Amino acid sequence: MLFPDYRPRRLRQNDAFRRMIRETKLSVDDLIFPIFAISGKGVKNPIPSMPGHCQLSTDHLVKTAKKAYELGIPAVMLFGIPDKKDPLATSAYAKDGIVQKATKALKDKIPDLVVITDVCLCQYTDHGHCGVVDGNIIDNDATLDLLARVALSHAKAGTDMVAPSDMMDGRVAEIRQTLDENDFSNIPIMSYAAKYCSAYYGPFREAADSAPQFGDRRTYQMDPANSLEAIREVNMDIEEGADIIMIKPALPYLDIIHSIRNEIDLPVAAYNVSGEYSMIKAAEKMGWIDGKKVMMESLTSIKRAGADMILTYFALEAAEELRK
Ligand code: PBG
Ligand code: ZN
Repeated sequence: MLFPDYRPRRLRQNDAFRRMIRETKLSVDDLIFPIFAISGKGVKNPIPSMPGHCQLSTDHLVKTAKKAYELGIPAVMLFGIPDKKDPLATSAYAKDGIVQKATKALKDKIPDLVVITDVCLCQYTDHGHCGVVDGNIIDNDATLDLLARVALSHAKAGTDMVAPSDMMDGRVAEIRQTLDENDFSNIPIMSYAAKYCSAYYGPFREAADSAPQFGDRRTYQMDPANSLEAIREVNMDIEEGADIIMIKPALPYLDIIHSIRNEIDLPVAAYNVSGEYSMIKAAEKMGWIDGKKVMMESLTSIKRAGADMILTYFALEAAEELRK
């Protein structure tokens, strides 16, 4: 039907019509809030490139997580900043490691809030890579056992879900097997399945002190130019036992989110990463954009592309907007 018989503006003329025909509705249920745990007491170190976010000692971490819980956010994604780093990332799988302690505290104080723990080595290795290093090579197979150890230590501490972000080949299978052998067959794996080698991670690396000390992550994270490869990565992780598939970053990769959504029948998560957050915050601070509106539009677009859930540093602010 063509103009003048059809007039799309008919159904845009008032808010009620617009609400009735809205195709995508962002909900607080879609949000996952990433938080950074550090040791100590009363510690709240602001992260300069991520206004509103801090490295938090467990007491503050619980307070912040409680805010999220009270706003109706179902889950947090927990990252740790350890006291010590070494070549084998031993503090990543220590019983009293930072994530293990923070997980216990969160599950103790807010049992109904889902805790998802990031499984990787980069915050814990002195060289800052996500895997074990052999010379200048990131050794895939030598890393798998350590990642499984990390996941198991998180499970023992009470995590509700593990999320491997390292991009080593075969890690989902290794983690699944280790969890199952240790009576944790109920713990789901949210796999960072298509994780691109992105400059949008910059602020996070400041927040988590996890920048690689030599080279870059191009030998394990995906080339931003590839999309067919994302389908292979995702299918591989599903075969290996992933329960939720994540695409990361989100906004520059909406096409990937869309094609994966159409390709698979598992839940799809998208990670609206640190740089995506910082750019909006910076432009807002300059007075160049309406930060809240751009935030809601961005999150809606990620959902429209096909994400069932969104990891976002905006989770608290978005949840507050959704209440209005
Ligand atoms: C590390 C990790 C990164 C992020 C989550 N886990 C960064 C990286 O790969 O260097 C990025 C999150 C963000 O930018 O918000 N495994
Ligand atoms: Zn890593």
